[in-house]
Amino acid sequence: MLKFNKYLTRTWSLVRSRPRGWQSLLYNTVMAKAKLVGPLMLPVHISIEPTNSCNLRCPVCETGNGSMARRAGVLDYDLYCRFIDQIASHAVVLMFYFMGEPFLNKRAYDMIRYARGKGIYVETCTNGEHVNPEGVIYSDVNDISFQIGGMTQETHERYRVRGDLSRVISNLEQLLVERQRHPHSNVQVNVGFVVMKHNEHEVSEFLRWAKEIGVDRANLIDPCVRTIAEGRELLPDNPRYWFYDEEAFARGELKPKIVPRNECTWIWNSMLVCWDGSVVPCCRDPQGRHVLGNVFEKPLREIWNGEAMRSFRHRIVTKQGEMDICRLCSGYGVPALDRSRPMSFEIQRMSLVDSMTSVDWKLPQERSNRGGDLHVSGDFP
Ligand SMILES: C[S@@+](CC[C@H](N)C(=O)[O-])C[C@H]1O[C@@H](n2cnc3c(N)ncnc32)[C@H](O)[C@@H]1O
Ligand code: SF4
Ligand code: SF4
Repeated sequence: MLKFNKYLTRTWSLVRSRPRGWQSLLYNTVMAKAKLVGPLMLPVHISIEPTNSCNLRCPVCETGNGSMARRAGVLDYDLYCRFIDQIASHAVVLMFYFMGEPFLNKRAYDMIRYARGKGIYVETCTNGEHVNPEGVIYSDVNDISFQIGGMTQETHERYRVRGDLSRVISNLEQLLVERQRHPHSNVQVNVGFVVMKHNEHEVSEFLRWAKEIGVDRANLIDPCVRTIAEGRELLPDNPRYWFYDEEAFARGELKPKIVPRNECTWIWNSMLVCWDGSVVPCCRDPQGRHVLGNVFEKPLREIWNGEAMRSFRHRIVTKQGEMDICRLCSGYGVPALDRSRPMSFEIQRMSLVDSMTSVDWKLPQERSNRGGDLHVSGDFP
């Protein structure tokens, strides 16, 4: 009932504000709810992978732990631009990252700028080591998130293996300075913190620091693991940060707290393109097990409503329990269209735990250099 009310509220707000792409989002979501696989309107939400290579070695990430089955490579600038030309009329949000470190692609700033020139909202996420602050301003990216692994070099590199915390912080601070030097820049700067056993005691310090240096949003992310052994090693003691069912975990079974039952609205609205143009259903398929076409070989509209994609959606609504990639997913809900920079420092959780009422993080208001009240947001799919 609560979920239904939430959908109703969101639908009403969509119809009332009618942001770009709203018809597609509404139509495709209704199709998803009705379990109809097509034909769909073109997707409003696209993700693209600038490269699947990385300088770090995060142990759960397929790129980081060396288990990546896809060939390593870098997105080609010209092919990318042709793709952006193709999607410019319907894409509203471009997530400029997937596996790998986006800023290892030497044309990353130009690529983002190209999509921005077509009026697409661009978001990216980085380990922060190779970010050029001036390049970020030049790119006109809307939203960039620096991922921090801990508040000391020791805790940071425990998961962000080979990472240099001081370098990340220096790049982040320089970006904040650059932003002030360029008043026309509207880049939203965020920091993300995947909460794990070795850094959970640093959460308050992280939030305090994030507010103090003047980022727009601090994001606390519940950790993903792939196996029970990884879970024992990395999952925090505090169940507040658990995405997984604790009782099942104690029995030696890894499963999310909420298991989707033949439903997923995400892949009715979103498309994910790897560096070589191959299309995979969502970010739960880092290895490219379910390639559904290639946007460098075929027009996107043919892939989107093509046989492979429709039959994949059909399997979702009929036999999701048998889908390998859905096993550890709770479904991603519906992409948000109405993005705006928070008015004041905001804390966001990427979590299955919706309610923020039990949160007891205390932040000294007087130390904020952006003013405004602390705003906590907890609206997740
Ligand atoms: C695969 S990374 C790619 C972008 C970039 N290399 C980075 O690390 O930010 C995308 C996102 O996955 C997050 N991530 C990595 N390992 C994770 C884990 N075990 N659990 C949850 N999120 C994780 C990162 O923090 C980042 O937000
Ligand atoms: S920095 Fe990002 S892409 Fe690189 S290994 Fe870590 S999570 Fe994976
Ligand atoms: S893994 Fe999740 S987002 Fe991907 S198709 Fe399955 S339910 Fe949908």
